[in-house]
This record gives sequence, structure tokens and C-alpha cells, in this order.
Amino acid sequence: MFEIKANNFKDTISRYNFINFELEKLIQSEPDSLANLSNAAALLWEYIENINWSGFYLMRNDELVLGPFQGKPACVHIALGSGVCGTAAETKLSQVVHNVHLFPGHIACDSQSNSEVVVPILDNDKVVAVIDVDSPNFSNFDDDDRVGLEMIAATLNKYIRWSEL
Ligand code: SME
Repeated sequence: MFEIKANNFKDTISRYNFINFELEKLIQSEPDSLANLSNAAALLWEYIENINWSGFYLMRNDELVLGPFQGKPACVHIALGSGVCGTAAETKLSQVVHNVHLFPGHIACDSQSNSEVVVPILDNDKVVAVIDVDSPNFSNFDDDDRVGLEMIAATLNKYIRWSEL
């Protein structure tokens, strides 16, 4: 059903514009939030280069809990302030980490990961989830990935009913 092949993008922002466009098409008329978030994880997996994990952690009772993802099985519970995801959730700030081994408290779910980008998703100034993408390459992500994923976060916020997850 989903057969678009596009691997050559002129730059990172074009790549995320494409992902965002496809995401909106996939989820705009589908009311099931869990299905939509699952497809979002799959789109990131399909179109971001050199990655070994893409997905979501959801805020539940003041901690992050594993949500829809692609990649190896991952740690289920992450405390606020812990690791890259917990830091993004606590500070409400995106994290672009060029070398995860230098990040204090980094949680190594997959020992292959060397760089990571995490973007918090805020609904009415409250963190409801984070987007997490990992790479086996060092410095796989830069500020354009942050901007692209923040655009994806805004699109998800338009359609996902976080309280249903
Ligand atoms: N490395 C993350 C944990 C989640 S996994 O990468 C999927 C962290 O430090 O928060």
C-alpha cells in the first residue's frame, strides 16, 4: 500500500519536508492515534539515513514509557532527567547528541548507537511524548534534523490525541 521510493533528497530539510508531507497524508483521515504514531515511527525509519532506531516514548505518570518504534527492543521506562530522552522531556528542549558516550547518563538500549536526536512533543506546554532517533554513526544528526523532527512533532500534535494512548 505504501510504495513511495525516495532516497535522494537535495538536503536534510527536503527529506523532512517529504516525510512530513507523507505523514500528513497517512494520518489526516485516520482517527486511531496508536496506528498513526506507529506509521510515523515507520516513516522515520524508512526515510532517515543511517539509523538503527526510530520511535516514541510517551509520558505516563511522570515518566517516559516506550511507545511505537522500529529497531531493536528497547528499555521500557525512562525517568525524567535520565539519559537523552529524559533530559529532553525534563528541559522541554530538543537534544542533538553527536557522541552518546559523552552524554552524562546516556541509556544504551542498543550498544550500536553512537549518536542520537530527541525532540520533545508539547501539548499546552506539557510534554506528552518524545521522538527519539538513534544512529550507529557518530554525528549523524545536526540542527537540520532537529528542525525537521520539530516539524514532524507539530504535525503529530495536529492529529494525535495523546490522552488516548
Ligand atoms: N538512548 C536513549 C534511550 C532510548 S534508546 O536509545 C531507544 C537515552 O539515553 O535516553
